[in-house]
Amino acid sequence: MREFLIAGNWKMNGSSTGSAELVAGVLAGMPAGSGFSVLVCPPFPYLSAIAGQVKGSALKLGAQNVSEHESGAYTGEVAPAMLRDIGCEYVIVGHSERRAMYGESSFQVAAKFQAAQAAGLVPILCVGETLDERESGATESVVDYQLGAVIDAAGIGAFSSAVVAYEPVWAIGTGKTATPEQAQDVHKHIRALLSGHDVDVAAGLRILYGGSMKGENAAGLLAMPDIDGGLIGGASLQAMDFLAIANAAART
Ligand code: PGA
Repeated sequence: MREFLIAGNWKMNGSSTGSAELVAGVLAGMPAGSGFSVLVCPPFPYLSAIAGQVKGSALKLGAQNVSEHESGAYTGEVAPAMLRDIGCEYVIVGHSERRAMYGESSFQVAAKFQAAQAAGLVPILCVGETLDERESGATESVVDYQLGAVIDAAGIGAFSSAVVAYEPVWAIGTGKTATPEQAQDVHKHIRALLSGHDVDVAAGLRILYGGSMKGENAAGLLAMPDIDGGLIGGASLQAMDFLAIANAAART
């Protein structure tokens, strides 16, 4: 049985005191029970301090990006082993903001995915189409291409220790959420694509939805058979908003 994963992507927000308060608020309100995990992905400078704060709790820690290289002369980059070293378990790779604004190709994303796994991190691979691509009927071919680059590089077996996040670009930070049915259609397609390579890996893979997910729409999305959690931006910046989604997962 797949467990829900509720992941907060803080993006480039916060401060040292603000992030400590946010984590304290999340820890104080973490729903009890099983069948779900809760994860926060703060900016790099705050990871070490937050690793100390979440130690011994059920709250998991991840980063928002990682280098595809192991170590060396890569000024400004952060190696996968460094993230593991300070207590991160997860790392987001291929977020649409990184693909669009920092020119990350699907090949580079695949290299990051592999480097993360080699260091013992679980990559959360983001895929999703823009509004133009959706309107021109290219949604499936876009996610197929983005996933295909990683399947080709890492092999299907690698998806047994990875997470996929379907994030339609038109829904990110816009307040326009995909309907549960729109999201389910793509999630089902993604699982079917992977099933074509390995039925068991596809059945065990967690596929998160991301794009304006919030307390009010979480239960409807999480009720869909192929939606296994959420990658949450805006609504992860306030403990109460984020906990509303975690609570929806705990109840579903
Ligand atoms: P959003 O962001 O929840 O603010 O739409 C989601 C994401 O970019 O991961």
